Amino acid sequence: MSLIIAVDGPAASGKGTIAARLAQTYGLPHLDTGLLYRAVGVKLLEAGGSLDDEAAATQVARSLDAADVSEDPRLTTGEAGEAASRVAGHPGVRAALLDLQQAFAAQAGGAVLDGRDIGTVIAPDAPAKLFVTATPRVRADRRWKQLTARGFDIGFDDMLADIQRRDERDAGRGAAPMVQAEDAVLLDTTDMGIEAAFDAARRIVEAAR
Ligand code: C5P
Repeated sequence: MSLIIAVDGPAASGKGTIAARLAQTYGLPHLDTGLLYRAVGVKLLEAGGSLDDEAAATQVARSLDAADVSEDPRLTTGEAGEAASRVAGHPGVRAALLDLQQAFAAQAGGAVLDGRDIGTVIAPDAPAKLFVTATPRVRADRRWKQLTARGFDIGFDDMLADIQRRDERDAGRGAAPMVQAEDAVLLDTTDMGIEAAFDAARRIVEAAR
């Protein structure tokens, strides 16, 4: 049986870790779709382009392949996240990345995809949909701890402002805004550690499959 699991939610909600562990548990391939938008933003900047230039960003998005979404440390920075969220507002970029994501979701046996629009646009028929969230303060605190542990020098208030700006942009854009799909189950991880959050996610998937 094919099991498609859609995991959406805002930055640092825990969705990436949950998606990776669900993939491991069910033996499914996993695509972190945020990496696609990050790769577009980073490549565009490296080529000297502007994040506001939809035609140039769309061109970069069309030329992406699987090798561009590997574990490249340049894609995990705050700047890459910011660039991603800006190019992600261009409808041309989203259209250029649609086929790749839908082909990934259509693999025999199924797949786990995490992002902002998996349950609404990429895989609206997925049987298992989660919308993972937590308060901005808790998400900023998680991201701040991760980044400072890796040696980045960033203040908590800047981190919180960053998270809030990204939430507003992702939820407020016209093209595929971040929104909980009607049939997605809300998982609020504000007061949960990662083990409890993963257990809750697995129960939601078990109830849906
Ligand atoms: O999840 P991550 O923080 O890596 O995503 C970076 C940015 O990419 C998000 O802020 C969002 O603007 C964009 N994105 C998107 N749709 C997705 C995944 C990510 O618009 N499915």
